[in-house]
Amino acid sequence: MTFRELPKAELHLHIEGAAPASFIKGLAAEKNIDISEIFAEDGGYAYRDFDHFLSVYEAACTTLTGPEDFRRLTKAVLEESAAHGVVYTEAFISPDFCGGTDLGAWREYLAAIEDAAAEAEAQHGIMLRGIATCVRHFGPDQAKAAALCAAETAGDFITGFGMGGAEMMGRPADYAYAFDLAREAGLQLTCHAGEWGGPDMVAETIRDLKVERIGHGINCIQDLALVEQIAEDGIVLEVCPGSNVFLQAVPSWEAHPIEKLRDRGVKVTVSTDDPPYFRTTMTDEYEGLHRTFGWIEDDFAALNATAVEAAFCDDATRAKIANKLGVA
Ligand code: ADE
Ligand code: ZN
Repeated sequence: MTFRELPKAELHLHIEGAAPASFIKGLAAEKNIDISEIFAEDGGYAYRDFDHFLSVYEAACTTLTGPEDFRRLTKAVLEESAAHGVVYTEAFISPDFCGGTDLGAWREYLAAIEDAAAEAEAQHGIMLRGIATCVRHFGPDQAKAAALCAAETAGDFITGFGMGGAEMMGRPADYAYAFDLAREAGLQLTCHAGEWGGPDMVAETIRDLKVERIGHGINCIQDLALVEQIAEDGIVLEVCPGSNVFLQAVPSWEAHPIEKLRDRGVKVTVSTDDPPYFRTTMTDEYEGLHRTFGWIEDDFAALNATAVEAAFCDDATRAKIANKLGVA
């Protein structure tokens, strides 16, 4: 089987960040929005560094103005993921970019996204669950508003709550209210940490937000006692190697700590984060891991088994994905 054909689960994918540049360019043209400065000559996204990436990302999101845009986006994203062997995806969906945390609007956006997901499942067999996500640099009050949207719509589709954005803004405790609210609504929790912040940020995120998974988490490698604690506590890392290399969170594939973390007993999974922005796909991630660390089918099957165990879904869904991935 080729790396492309191997069945995969992806737990860390930003729905807006998965929008191909051509898709966003098309919407911008339809709506007469001038964001030509965010595109490179080859048609892809253009940005200098992580902070600039975040502003380009937000400029791209200004073209996603209604539920219909998210319906089309979800359909396109799931079709592309399925073409790379992905059978189960968890996508970060931000109430901030879906109606600006207005609950009525958020419900309409979600209905369109769920509709598209049902269509994609029928056509391509891929399943989607949503993690409602706040944006850290929008501040704690906006995070609370996003958590309220998440709590009100917690259920079979919205199964988790998370936080992305500029990691160095504030401390995790500043966002504890939002995460407490989401947890009390029955949502499972994940948060970006240790992509840019050090081990202290990862440790505080686990302690103050009580998350089960960490987005990235790679910088915990700088504190081996913390690595041991993460392994012991069974905290799962949503590792995105291609994203880390592209954004220079690590200098190269060879320098990426994923194998060291795995070998120290940390539960790791692999995802693309924002594939067109980082010019990656799940196939590229698998190929990179094979090229760099010599990972083969058994290693990928272990990633899938961890992803199934860590998926934010009910047990019937878990059994279904396990079966599709052949890890039952
Ligand atoms: N939002 C989208 N991609 C992100 C990343 N890699 N880190 C933080 N926030 C993000
Ligand atoms: Zn991310």
